[in-house]
Amino acid sequence: MTANDHDVPALLMQGPVPAGEIAASPFDAALWQAIRTQEAIQKMTGGDIRLKALKAFVALNIAAILGDDDHLTSGEIADICKADAALMARFLYAMHAYGVVTTDEDGRYGLTPLGQALQPGSAMWAALGVITSPLWQQAGDSLADTIRAGHPAILGGAATPYPLVTREPDLGPMFDVFMSGRTAGPAAALAARDYSDVRTVADLGGGDGTLLATILTAHPHLNGILVERADVAARADLRLTEQGLAGRVQVITRDIFDDVCPSADRIIVSSVLHNRDDSTNVTLLRAIRYALEHARPRAQLWCVEMLLPEAGIHTSGTDLDLRMMAMFPGGQERTLRQYQALLASAGLNLIEGGLLPGNHTLMIAAPDGA
Ligand SMILES: C[S@@+](CC[C@H](N)C(=O)[O-])C[C@H]1O[C@@H](n2cnc3c(N)ncnc32)[C@H](O)[C@@H]1O
Repeated sequence: MTANDHDVPALLMQGPVPAGEIAASPFDAALWQAIRTQEAIQKMTGGDIRLKALKAFVALNIAAILGDDDHLTSGEIADICKADAALMARFLYAMHAYGVVTTDEDGRYGLTPLGQALQPGSAMWAALGVITSPLWQQAGDSLADTIRAGHPAILGGAATPYPLVTREPDLGPMFDVFMSGRTAGPAAALAARDYSDVRTVADLGGGDGTLLATILTAHPHLNGILVERADVAARADLRLTEQGLAGRVQVITRDIFDDVCPSADRIIVSSVLHNRDDSTNVTLLRAIRYALEHARPRAQLWCVEMLLPEAGIHTSGTDLDLRMMAMFPGGQERTLRQYQALLASAGLNLIEGGLLPGNHTLMIAAPDGA
């Protein structure tokens, strides 16, 4: 049998068909197109089993077992995990292919930087815990219902998923650690900026205080204000105290969308606007504009968000937009122009922008006419 007899295994054995040959035979071109389509879909659906594999890696505690520099055989790892040795060997074979573990000629496994990043308590461990939690998974599973209904199916009529997050004892703290890890890169970049004419930095929806702590530690003349929901504010308070910043930061428990913004000459909203619809955000932004107008000269708003890419381009912003759709009524990623329009609706001018680590963007705004 030859490739022209449409024997798919034989075709695959021959490797890629030169473009000219594909064009010469309409049937073969269609067959190859079908194979490539199938491969593309398999690549997308493969994300599901890879996520589950990472979840299993964490559940089996393999990162902790291998520690910083231990190298163990799959049999030894299986013994410690009380797991089936043959399946553990196959599992580690896959984790090696995914770049999570290393292996040597003696068949001993160690951790790659990616595997190290999954140590219990780490930001990536927390990210995985949040993303594979029943709440996040159910939100994704009900995406079609959400699209039909026009609001997240898992929420009923609630305005945000945060009360559901708080209801799960482990999920809230894990979400904070996840966010803290995501913010570490942008925080370092923001801390490297000039604060010589700034006295007070307010971080609204500032999570566990990672961003504020990074800026305040780098600039000892600054004071900070962190506004958060009650449970997060309590954890932020503890963390900022542990970092020796208690005397310099005021932690306020308040709804940031309640039309009141503390006075500060640098106001930060990081990964906050993407959780809400335009009109709720305009309420917040108007309050911010008022606070900036009554602060020191050259007071600014710094927004940190992941931008939605141009149509047809896939970035992490594309995926995050669907996550917002599944979980936050009105939540969405936006393009730079959409943010510019949103800021303008609240009387704020976008005056500068810049890329931050982790596909985040800094958008700096000031009151109109300032
Ligand atoms: C996506 S997280 C971002 C956290 C942090 N700003 C960062 O960039 O890592 C959004 C934060 O906003 C807080 N938040 C949401 N709604 C809030 C509200 N109405 N009032 C105060 N904080 C709120 C959440 O508790 C959460 O910590």
